[in-house]
Amino acid sequence: MATKSGEGFSSTFGAIMAAAGSAVGLGNIWRFPYICGKYGGGAFLLVYICFVFFIGMALMMSEFVIGRRTGEDPMKAYPKLRPNKPAWRFVGLAGLLTCFLILAIYLVISGWTLNYFWESLTGTLAGISDDGFGKHFSEFASSAGRPVVFVVLFLVFTAFVIIGGVEKGIERVSKLLMPILVVLLLVLCVRSLTLDGASEGLAYLFHPDFSKLTGEGILAALGQALFSLSVGMGVMIVYGSYLPVDDNIMKTSVWITVCDFAIAILAGIAIFPAVFACGQDPTGGPGLVYQVLPVVFNSLGTVGRVFSVVFFLLLSLAALTSAISLLEALTQWLSSEKIGRTMSAIVMSVAVVVLAVVASFSFGDGIMSGLKVGNLQLFDLLDKLTGTILPPICALMTIIFFGWFMKKDDIIDELSNHGTVKIGYFKVFYYFLVRFVAPAALLVVLISGLIN
Ligand code: PFF
Repeated sequence: MATKSGEGFSSTFGAIMAAAGSAVGLGNIWRFPYICGKYGGGAFLLVYICFVFFIGMALMMSEFVIGRRTGEDPMKAYPKLRPNKPAWRFVGLAGLLTCFLILAIYLVISGWTLNYFWESLTGTLAGISDDGFGKHFSEFASSAGRPVVFVVLFLVFTAFVIIGGVEKGIERVSKLLMPILVVLLLVLCVRSLTLDGASEGLAYLFHPDFSKLTGEGILAALGQALFSLSVGMGVMIVYGSYLPVDDNIMKTSVWITVCDFAIAILAGIAIFPAVFACGQDPTGGPGLVYQVLPVVFNSLGTVGRVFSVVFFLLLSLAALTSAISLLEALTQWLSSEKIGRTMSAIVMSVAVVVLAVVASFSFGDGIMSGLKVGNLQLFDLLDKLTGTILPPICALMTIIFFGWFMKKDDIIDELSNHGTVKIGYFKVFYYFLVRFVAPAALLVVLISGLIN
């Protein structure tokens, strides 16, 4: 228990479940499959794997080290490690602001998911004809009332867990939900793979098409890797501050990364073979899950209805454990300003729900669809900022701090649990990675992607 408040995860298993819960979310199940399909399947996957295992995982270890070393929230952690350079606190601030924006858009999409879960359960989706799902989704998502109800409902669940505390709320819920999530996903994969024509879907997901892997695609792979692992924004600093003192940060990071990656791949395996088997369009983009999958489920009859419930439940649970980590980051910061945990969680929830509602109203033909920055509607702007642009910028600042401004001895001491864990040559490799490779790669991809 590293934090001043005495809050922390009770065990390594609990810490892994909570951090994997943060990592596994809409990014894996809703976003990864359609981006991977869009930018060349296997070609995208190759680049994505490099980003995940070299840059994302290195960042995760770095954030855990910063968090556990200081036991502070991101705003205080940086200046604590560099007391003579208090301006580093702005890196923490940038991360928290990004968390705030991500949470707003996350709530909107989680609200849609919860609504679809409800509509699967009550049979509403089963009553819609195949060509009616596009209209159903856009009418629902652009309407003023219903999406807001589900956003608020989802936020209430999230806040409830946060108010429960780190061990009794976040850790307990993650330990319960993560295994359920894996089982539900495996059930869907088995069903999808046993449909006639499933192999075409697998080919779409894994066959490398390098012609589709543009500069934009590479930036998207980087943004996705960081977004999916929840790194760069300080959330893992927060969870790092809750890590048990004897936790092996390297092993824990490997577990979380592998788990996050595996679930993204499994989500692709659950979705594309079914989409192809039912003759649907795999390039459905963000609407794939809400407009194409329901057609797939309906074509499978009663069994499909069960799978529809299972799928939207899975997506809602995955979204919940991620939203929890985002709200926790904001709550930890506010409660360190001498406001209690409950009050902090409520204040942050109210603040973020305002932005979420405005974002929801600006989606599609919503009542605020005229709210634009440049030619982007607010919702699309937030999606682009939080999915592609801000994570690499925050990650770059974090890794520069870590590689160039934090004391190497402190890093090694923390990674090796004060010399009790052998890290051998890994420290040379890791230090090279965080000092040179990761910052250079982040910088190059970011600049070239932005120019493109
Ligand atoms: N990793 C989550 C996902 O893949 O859906 C989203 C996320 C959570 C991003 C927490 C960033 C974060 F700090």
